[in-house]
Amino acid sequence: MRYIDLRSDTVTKPTEEMRQAMMSAMVGDDVFSDDPTMNELEDLVAKTLGKEAGVFIPSGTFSNQLALFTHCKQGDEVIVDQFAHIVQHESGASPVISGVQLFTLESDLGIWDLKKMEKMIKKRTISTTNTKLICIENAYNGRALSLDYFDEVSKIAKKHELKVHLDGARIFNAAVALNVDVSEIAKYADTVSVCLSKGLCAPVGSVLVGTKEFVEQARMRRKIMGGGMRQVGILAAAGKIAIEKMSKRLIEDHENAEYMANLLRNIPNIVIDERQRDINMVFFDIDDDRKFALEDYMFENGVKILEYEDGFRFVAHHDLDRKDIKIAIDLVEKYFQ
Ligand SMILES: Cc1ncc(COP(=O)(O)O)c(C=O)c1O
Repeated sequence: MRYIDLRSDTVTKPTEEMRQAMMSAMVGDDVFSDDPTMNELEDLVAKTLGKEAGVFIPSGTFSNQLALFTHCKQGDEVIVDQFAHIVQHESGASPVISGVQLFTLESDLGIWDLKKMEKMIKKRTISTTNTKLICIENAYNGRALSLDYFDEVSKIAKKHELKVHLDGARIFNAAVALNVDVSEIAKYADTVSVCLSKGLCAPVGSVLVGTKEFVEQARMRRKIMGGGMRQVGILAAAGKIAIEKMSKRLIEDHENAEYMANLLRNIPNIVIDERQRDINMVFFDIDDDRKFALEDYMFENGVKILEYEDGFRFVAHHDLDRKDIKIAIDLVEKYFQ
């Protein structure tokens, strides 16, 4: 049975073109840096983001954590949003892998009070550690944060000689929403982690980009973490299509998400979080206690959804069309009638 899957864009399957490219990919041994397809992918992502170099990482979590591991030494402090993926959804990895202290800061949906943030930057003393890194995220859940805001964050970081890491799992979605080139977002960060396997449909992988020197260090640390891979050009072949082709169609997902949001807006008691309506996700809550059994009802009727924090998050992606979305939202409406 085919389910209509609204849980995430991570559920997207590799396209037929990706499968063909994977089958015929030229490969080598990437630990010796001689996998030609992987070298092409890493260069392509670095160039696309306006950085010197890139290194392929099996997942977004691994890539973010490798960034921290490479930027910091044990005991350093990292400033991060209190609801950032790095701190909320990465299994408590940072103190385990890097031995860093995460300083989590409250925000207004991803936007810090920057005066407050600056005051939290620490210098090493007998009793305080030193802040080393600031982590930001764009897109932040369903919201594309403005370039002006990142410009300010980056200026504060420079003033205090700190590095900035951007969790750009969905940076291509943010770029579409802001109508800018991805490199315009990436330029405010020293390092960026980009996911290939979300809305871009590749089966596996992220790329961490930065300076040549940083990437060389990260490559060594990736090996420490067991992330040295061999004939990985098979994955890179799909990754190249993700960047070159699939990033260009994300506007379709954003428009389908707006179509879905419009259908949801017509259902009584559904309250859409309009501040998070920038990308391919629709965040909403339902003022009706029957909502707690909605997930089971939808599943029984062929639609997979996920409760998200206090409410719901429905996601538009390549493997869904408007007919699927209409079927799913009609079911929600029927359930609450
Ligand atoms: C913002 C953000 N960062 C990082 C990740 C981690 O990616 P992965 O699931 O590949 O570890 C995700 C995953 O959904 C994410 O949404």
